[in-house]
Amino acid sequence: MRIILVDGKGREHELEAVEGWRVMEIIRDYGFPIVAECGGACACGTCQVEVDPEWAAKLHAPREDELDQLDQNYGGEWSRLSCQLIMSEELDGLRLRLSDIAIREAA
Ligand code: FES
Repeated sequence: MRIILVDGKGREHELEAVEGWRVMEIIRDYGFPIVAECGGACACGTCQVEVDPEWAAKLHAPREDELDQLDQNYGGEWSRLSCQLIMSEELDGLRLRLSDIAIREAA
């Protein structure tokens, strides 16, 4: 099972994914600079990713609290919170891009 992640510089990375893990956790474990300030509680919006449009329809619809966070954090049409996406066989090959808001500013 894998995720295809496009980083802030447009480079593609293939990440090994584990069933039941949050996409945010997988991205963070690989060391990508994702803020994810609230640790997955759907309370910060800083784990935002842009899902490839072809994949968007395969994801469960966002809940109200996820939509609220996306609204407050400049979410676009294909934006999702990666902490609310749980890996499963159906998402094998999921393609997404780190959003600007999720990328930690270099110190
Ligand atoms: S980590 Fe805070 S909303 Fe996802």
